[in-house]
Amino acid sequence: MGIELPRHIGFIMDGNGRWATSRGLSRSEGHKAGADAFRRICEYGCDIGIKSMTFYAFSTENWKRPAQEVSAIMNIFRDYLHEAQERKEENAQKGMHMHYMGEREGMPEDILDLFDTAENESVNQTKTTVNIAVNYGGRAEILHSVKRLAHSVAAGELDPDSITEDMITSGLYTAGQPEPDIIVRPSGEQRLSNFMIWQAAYSEFWYTDKLWPDFTTEDFDKVIEDYSKRHRRFGGV
Ligand code: FPP
Repeated sequence: MGIELPRHIGFIMDGNGRWATSRGLSRSEGHKAGADAFRRICEYGCDIGIKSMTFYAFSTENWKRPAQEVSAIMNIFRDYLHEAQERKEENAQKGMHMHYMGEREGMPEDILDLFDTAENESVNQTKTTVNIAVNYGGRAEILHSVKRLAHSVAAGELDPDSITEDMITSGLYTAGQPEPDIIVRPSGEQRLSNFMIWQAAYSEFWYTDKLWPDFTTEDFDKVIEDYSKRHRRFGGV
């Protein structure tokens, strides 16, 4: 019997700052190393055939960081998206579809444009969907979905008593994708931090003390191996 691959894996890319500080580097250097880890893990996940991966890159709360750090992170997104443009043939061969996941308001327009281009150009590449959570918060995402339904109710198109969980799910940024089977958080923290809180209702959780920039493809293999050994009951026995 082959190993059962998770259909959707979430990664909370944590520990870049500590990685940099422990080396006497700036926090921005840590985020650059984090982006290298993202590239490595994203590529590997596509190669082994994971259906969906979601990477938490910037939360709605991360705007509170020093302006210099925020701008360094935004530049990392720009660089990556330009690079993805240059590598679009390779990404097409891998069957990778990129998807922006987060609030648009407050984001620099040029970054949204780059994301939109990458997303539109890869729309027919359906092997692996890579969601990049930027300016993302799980509660805001649920609110966004619920408001959409509220508008339908107000317009007289929807009976409030007929609202189902599926209707809320289909208004989330991950609509049409499987729920995350497992969520990975490095750097020793054991919390969700507002990441896919609706979708993660039954997700397995996997953590390690390693910091995100040190996360390797061997660690990824270990996640998959551990996942295949867990017995998920979904509330049953
Ligand atoms: C959390 O670590 C990390 C972030 C807020 C930024 C994550 C961004 C990247 C890894 C770049 C991703 C790049 C692309 C192209 C998607 P932290 O700074 O909170 O670390 P700390 O807890 O050690 O301070």
